Amino acid sequence: MDFQLTEEHLQVREMARKFAQNVLKPGVIERDRDMIHPTEFLKQMGELGFMGMMVDPKYGGGGMDTISYAIAMEELSKIDASCSVAMSVNNSLVCWGLEEYGTEEQKQKYLVPLAKGEKLGAFALSEPEAGSDATSQRTTAEDKGDYYLLNGTKNWITNGGKADTYLVIAQTDAAKGHRGINVLIVEKGMPGFEIGAKEDKLGIRASDTHTLLFNDVKVPKENRIGEDGFGFKFAMKTLEGGRIGIAAQALGIAAGAYELAVEYAKTRKAFGTEIANHQAIQFKLADMATEIEAARLLVYKAAWMKDQHLDYSIASATAKVFASEVAMKTTVEAVQVHGGYGYVKEYHVERLMRDAKITQIYEGTSEVQRIVIGRGVLSGKI
Ligand code: CAA
Repeated sequence: MDFQLTEEHLQVREMARKFAQNVLKPGVIERDRDMIHPTEFLKQMGELGFMGMMVDPKYGGGGMDTISYAIAMEELSKIDASCSVAMSVNNSLVCWGLEEYGTEEQKQKYLVPLAKGEKLGAFALSEPEAGSDATSQRTTAEDKGDYYLLNGTKNWITNGGKADTYLVIAQTDAAKGHRGINVLIVEKGMPGFEIGAKEDKLGIRASDTHTLLFNDVKVPKENRIGEDGFGFKFAMKTLEGGRIGIAAQALGIAAGAYELAVEYAKTRKAFGTEIANHQAIQFKLADMATEIEAARLLVYKAAWMKDQHLDYSIASATAKVFASEVAMKTTVEAVQVHGGYGYVKEYHVERLMRDAKITQIYEGTSEVQRIVIGRGVLSGKI
């Protein structure tokens, strides 16, 4: 067992850290307050290779491993989780799904510009009545011979208004249950496809979250990914990897809040000394450090298992449920260490606390992760 990061991992960390500190940090408070999408920064992240990190270079990607991706997600999320969620969806759900299951034509047409960061992707699974219960899709993709007729509504779609390429999960044959679901590549601008309302959210406020409306959208048959009826398994497999990205995001939010708390505790004085010298504060910092390290190990293990082509379904669920709970707990405590300053925007920790909450909800709630882990326990996988 080797816990050492490679030279490449350290370089990725350095590059992501510098970009987050120098480029993302100035303006992050205003973007959060005014819900300003970081479009220009995502383009720059594309140029740095962050938008298709694990994609084969022959399709315009960085050819890196999943640990590098987790490291970059952690560093960027310490500063700006709105940027990192856009990156995560593009990498884990859209690029990975296309590379793993797409045809050569689909890869050339859609994957290459997404992996280079020239275009942005979105993953449309959730619906008003189908979030955790992913088989209960109401959106329909009626088979019309050489095309599908897509009708329905998707909710809370990350990158919803800004994406160019959408992977849309829809029901073709309700009688077949999860085996009647397909995944279709839908382009922005296809007739009948409309971007609906933008959400005004508690956290990750600069990320672009929309309702999508499909009204008789004709999607060519060649835009279906995989065999007929593969959509549900496609969603489950992509979400498995997506959970590693979101676990790394949660880890970054926690680590960002922890670093701010340590810095603040070393400078703020109360009762005649820096508050870091009070045991009440040291205990908080010690718990944060311990839990963050445990979360990091779970994230790296899940990423490593994916790279080794092992079954990482339980590992990614375990990493996500733990890291997101650590993010919530750590950010609340970081606000507490800051006292009154923690409750105002200027000190960043209140934003991280709001951002942390979504990591317990999207790409499978903590309850769904426990379903996955619980099934693993009963089947002897864990
Ligand atoms: N890999 C491959 N196949 C899988 C699978 C996996 N991880 N999980 C399930 N399947 C297969 C099963 O083998 C089964 O197939 P067979 O019948 O052929 O054996 C089929 O799928 C149905 O499986 P289940 O009966 O276990 O399915 P279920 O309805 O009980 O669902 C669930 C299980 C874990 C709750 C699943 O529905 C789930 O993960 N839900 C959460 C969905 C989710 O994460 N939503 C997030 C939205 S996307 C998002 O948030 C992105 C964003 O904006 C940031």
